[in-house]
Amino acid sequence: MQCLVTGVAGFIGSHLAEALLREGYEVIGIDCFTDYYSRQFKEKNIAGLNTQKGFRFLEANLLQIDLKKLLKDVDWVFHLAAQAGVRASWGENFEIYTQNNVLATQKLLEASKEANLKGFVYASSSSVYGDTKVLPTPEKTYLQPLSPYGVTKLAAEHLCYLYYKNFGVPTVALRYFTVYGPRQRPDMAFHRFLKAALLGEEIEIYGDGQQSRDFTYISDVVEAHLLVMKRFYPGEVFNIGGGSQTVLKTALELLPEIAGKNVNIIYQDAQKGDVRHTAADISKAKKLLGYQPKVRLAEGLRAEWEWIKEIYKYV
Ligand code: UGA
Repeated sequence: MQCLVTGVAGFIGSHLAEALLREGYEVIGIDCFTDYYSRQFKEKNIAGLNTQKGFRFLEANLLQIDLKKLLKDVDWVFHLAAQAGVRASWGENFEIYTQNNVLATQKLLEASKEANLKGFVYASSSSVYGDTKVLPTPEKTYLQPLSPYGVTKLAAEHLCYLYYKNFGVPTVALRYFTVYGPRQRPDMAFHRFLKAALLGEEIEIYGDGQQSRDFTYISDVVEAHLLVMKRFYPGEVFNIGGGSQTVLKTALELLPEIAGKNVNIIYQDAQKGDVRHTAADISKAKKLLGYQPKVRLAEGLRAEWEWIKEIYKYV
């Protein structure tokens, strides 16, 4: 059985590809190394994959290649390629977000109409909910993104559904909630905080630090994809959260023990597009997929810390 992972050199894509290979699937990984963050990180992410049997890497942009040809013998599509980042999606950047998140997804779905897919899993985001007051948030909550990024993730999620309804493309959307762990993107909070702790720099908090997130550890997110392959519900959307909501400042209290030193915090202006709170109601994923997040924040942060020490050891 053959899987296509788009955005394979990214944080979640690279972990997912490794898990699929472990499960015995063949994996085609595609990535165009967008310049949102350094290519070096992404090359490291796939270094282990490139030496594995059953893995084929393609450096290409989804907007520029023959996707029908790419999907010819593919059974499962995991569409993780995206222009990431909530706070950078304003202004001129929006064009990149619409191209990489909306247009690229539409092109992949068009090509999927004629492919013989078992499933098409789309990486959606908690950002589709915006500043909802319904916490924990079930999937059926009114969707009102607060960032341009969230708008593009939601638009692409809608595209998945309408290609399912009109053409039978077997799509499922997973709404990830702030994923963390080894290989986390360098713009994300924990990566920045742990790096600052390591290098003795100041930790910058946007706003008052009282915002909260349903932080989700990478292995739990990967597991959700494997579950989707076993119990497939085309046309459905699932929240994939970590199982608890943590205030940012509370999460920071874990740092001195993990890093073995005190950290300096400074406060910056709150960022436009950032929502105040996220908390996933995961009862649907629990019931239908058997999803159960396992890794608690302290344990997950420790694993990310070990990785941060490794990648910044020569800095
Ligand atoms: C994350 C991902 O970056 C998005 O790609 C994803 O779509 C989204 O989760 C999701 O849940 O779907 P975010 O929640 O902003 O977005 O994740 P972090 O970058 O880890 O930020 C968490 C919180 O820490 C935010 O309130 C942010 O403002 C804050 N933060 C971040 C800081 O206070 N300081 C920093 O240096 C970085």
